[in-house]
Amino acid sequence: MLSSKKILLIISGGIAAYKSLDIIRLLRKEGAQVTCVLTKGGSQFITPLSVASLSENQVYDDLWSLIDETQMGHIRLSREHDLIVLAPATANLMAKMAHGLADGLASTLLLASDKPVLVAPAMNPVMWANEATKSNVETLKKRGIKFVGPAEGDMACGETGLGRMSEAEDILTAIKDFFFERPLKGLKALVTAGPTYEAIDPVRFIGNRSSGKQGYAIARALLEAGAQVTLISGPTRIRPVNGANMVHVESAEEMLEACEAVLPADICVCSAAVSDWRATSMSEQKIKKEAGNLPPSLSLTENPDILERLSNHPTKRPSLIIGFAAETENIGKHAKVKLEKKGCDWIMANLVGKDEKGHEKAFGSDENQIYFYSQEHDSKETWEHMSKKHIADRLVVKIVEHYKAK
Ligand code: C5P
Repeated sequence: MLSSKKILLIISGGIAAYKSLDIIRLLRKEGAQVTCVLTKGGSQFITPLSVASLSENQVYDDLWSLIDETQMGHIRLSREHDLIVLAPATANLMAKMAHGLADGLASTLLLASDKPVLVAPAMNPVMWANEATKSNVETLKKRGIKFVGPAEGDMACGETGLGRMSEAEDILTAIKDFFFERPLKGLKALVTAGPTYEAIDPVRFIGNRSSGKQGYAIARALLEAGAQVTLISGPTRIRPVNGANMVHVESAEEMLEACEAVLPADICVCSAAVSDWRATSMSEQKIKKEAGNLPPSLSLTENPDILERLSNHPTKRPSLIIGFAAETENIGKHAKVKLEKKGCDWIMANLVGKDEKGHEKAFGSDENQIYFYSQEHDSKETWEHMSKKHIADRLVVKIVEHYKAK
């Protein structure tokens, strides 16, 4: 998301400086170019070597460095970035900014810069509540400087209160908010993903081949668009989605209960491959294979249909509900029947099974092909074959257009 962005990160002297290493890591993961300035105080907490290694860039820490000045020059350093982030920002550095002092590299850069600044304060709660700090913050805000945090919680000094630096993830979100419009901000989304496991006995279950990749990608794309996301996941091997409220479940009944607990929600995407049936009763003990006995018979009962239940919720129906249809044949016919029967707004239909090379076409694969059906416009779109990430992004574009048209 940040691949063309150049960020100057100023790390001043607070214990929260250790979190700045994580900020650098997250920014690099998003593709941003990161240049770091370490104040004298900052270098008491983390070393230039760790900052340089993570940012893969030179670290600047001295206004009077002949080498730095000949290579870059502090005026250029202050102008060549899209955003300057101060994390942690100490009370001292904010006071210098508010009063226009320039007695070190960081404060001089800030005075010489015409670039936007995002500040993540970190200090003891009493320092944060001090009238001097309050008025400095006021002054900076009036000048258009953006703030993220501070957060409330336990401090390294043993006290508790408002003053902790925001977590690296939240600072990353604030940076993204600065660069991008978040069209789904304020909307709550619920996504189901992965398979369900229906227990037969303590060791066996009925499951399916769903990997959860599509649902996780959709949760990520919704988060990037600014929605508040709860991801209810059946058993998968995928890492949790950072920033989403993750709820792990096993069975269809657990998934339904978790979905209902999340309501009200605005957007609901049911991408989980929920088992249609479960064992009528689960054996408390492992079913044993005894010599001479016939194989046990399995009696099945129907699972609740989560998509149908949410689509027909008497009081808390999400305003946009999207279901999936994994079919092996007659995709259009089945998708339309599903739209009608389940009462959802859109269906993302796809073919499952193996291609001519024996590879899975949808389940477990990183790519898929979607046929998109909408109840509202009685329309069908054939999307080209693409990665599940691109499918997620395209779906989110459609969701954004849907809410814009409202
Ligand atoms: O009927 P079928 O399983 O093909 O429908 C698929 C759609 O319905 C998917 O969106 C899936 O998440 C949802 N579904 C559900 N609960 C079930 C079965 C399917 O939510 N018990």
